[in-house]
Amino acid sequence: MTDIVIDEIVVPSTLEPRRATDRDADPDPGPDHAASVAAYVEAIALENAVQTEVLGFGDLDFAPAEQLPQWHDPFTPRRLFVVRAEGRIVGQATYETLADPAVTTCWLWVAVAPEHRRLGLGTALLDHVEAVARAADRTDAIAFVASGQGVASGQDVASGQDVASGQDATAGSGPAAGSAPAAALADRLEASTGHGWVPRASSEVRFALSRGYALGQVERISRLPLPVDEEALAAIRSEALAAAGDDYRVHTWSGPTPRRWQSGVAAMATALSTDAPMGDVPEPEDVWTVERLVEAEQRRATSGRASLTAAAEHVPTGRLVACSDLAVPDDASRPAMQQMTLVRREHRGHRLGWLVKVANLDRLAVEKPGRPAVLTFNAEENRPMLAVNEAVGFVPIGVEGVWHRLL
Ligand SMILES: CC(C)(COP(=O)(O)OP(=O)(O)OC[C@H]1O[C@@H](n2cnc3c(N)ncnc32)[C@H](O)[C@@H]1OP(=O)(O)O)[C@@H](O)C(=O)NCCC(=O)NCCS
Repeated sequence: MTDIVIDEIVVPSTLEPRRATDRDADPDPGPDHAASVAAYVEAIALENAVQTEVLGFGDLDFAPAEQLPQWHDPFTPRRLFVVRAEGRIVGQATYETLADPAVTTCWLWVAVAPEHRRLGLGTALLDHVEAVARAADRTDAIAFVASGQGVASGQDVASGQDVASGQDATAGSGPAAGSAPAAALADRLEASTGHGWVPRASSEVRFALSRGYALGQVERISRLPLPVDEEALAAIRSEALAAAGDDYRVHTWSGPTPRRWQSGVAAMATALSTDAPMGDVPEPEDVWTVERLVEAEQRRATSGRASLTAAAEHVPTGRLVACSDLAVPDDASRPAMQQMTLVRREHRGHRLGWLVKVANLDRLAVEKPGRPAVLTFNAEENRPMLAVNEAVGFVPIGVEGVWHRLL
């Protein structure tokens, strides 16, 4: 392919058709709204289709309407670029950064429709977003790249056991690494953290390597089938309650954070940006204020995903010290997505992670029953968090490489 034309999509503020009154109110409506909506929807559909093809399941999809609030977050500006062939979008790339001009980090992602691969589209799109990043003085590029967990990765989906992770093998929760098939062993690209690996032969891994990206971390994608085994949950619940004792009290809510807990939740969201294990990938601190939290919750209110939160208060100080939230689709046939789970450093070791996770699963069963599963991402080296998830019944279904390149 010789002439590759890359267009930027103006992401619409709403997917609803513009009414005549809107046009009257806005004498300069900019690019044609219906065309912007169609292009945005087509680009997100491509992203979801490509992810489904790579992973072998579509559970991670975020529909265009569900993603829309993120595209208008003033704290994390994003841009969307596409390549077309015969009038259809066949490749797309996203660029995201933090609004703070001093930040050097950006997050990039590229997807090309299977029938248009190995023609240089991925390279052209990545070149483009890397140039956008350099122009904005962003010199640390990070890419989150998912890989399936089929034969190529050597991870045993049927048994739910992760034969990939040396960490699991030594921890005794999976077969010894040596028992994995020889082909799978040769096919592994280990993270520089020493925990987890991605399938070296896959297109996405070859592409990232050929573009000079280094694998800084591997995250495990896990799935908890619902309903949860009540007996297993009860055992975890009572152990967590006993370990936490009287010093901690659980609060749950759905939708926006109650005023009383806003500053606590904002502080926890800030801490999450630096407290979660980041492997060899330099993630910047992302500061959340109460104003930012309120604005983000308002923006997400109409996205078609409700948030359910469980948090633990440290009773002697009245501070919020642990928090876990789920994004639950209105459509009951689709899985819920685990969002932040965090226990403040000085309060770790009291099973508070278990306490808030179990409280939120209880809440999910009552408030939004019928969802088929909960999905979550965890760093392979984050043993305490993986232990919580495994105890509740999560099983590995895929991996995500976290790649880094200095631009
Ligand atoms: C990764 C992806 C974007 C590559 O798109 P593409 O248009 O095929 O990429 P290019 O044609 O520019 O390939 C560039 C180089 O990547 C490497 N590469 C890409 N796919 C490969 C494959 N299947 N086998 C071997 N090498 C491959 C090669 O070095 C290739 O150069 P070459 O064709 O001259 O040998 C595409 O496979 C895809 O959409 N994958 C799923 C989404 C994804 O994982 N995106 C994350 C990337 S940030």
